[in-house]
Amino acid sequence: MHGLLNVQPDEEFKQGKLICSCFKVGENSIIDAIQQGCDSVDKLGAELKCGTNCGSCKSELSQLVNQYKGLSAITPNKDSALLKMLIPVAEVD
Ligand code: FES
Repeated sequence: MHGLLNVQPDEEFKQGKLICSCFKVGENSIIDAIQQGCDSVDKLGAELKCGTNCGSCKSELSQLVNQYKGLSAITPNKDSALLKMLIPVAEVD
């Protein structure tokens, strides 16, 4: 039982569903790149090479861009409203 809890997901699992089979690029890597600013299929190709060989994955890349562009990963900083709601902190003037 203890051994099962220590199993780490392999790299293929972390990458998510395979989108670009030519360059073995998974969905999670693509979503991360979109959230980092790759807001077009061409920019994804420049960053990850996906879509730059046979091109059969371009429609899926385009769908992911449309679905995830403009949605940045939530990385609250100390001034974020979300964090202030979750962790009330006494402010001293
Ligand atoms: S599957 Fe993506 S370029 Fe061929």
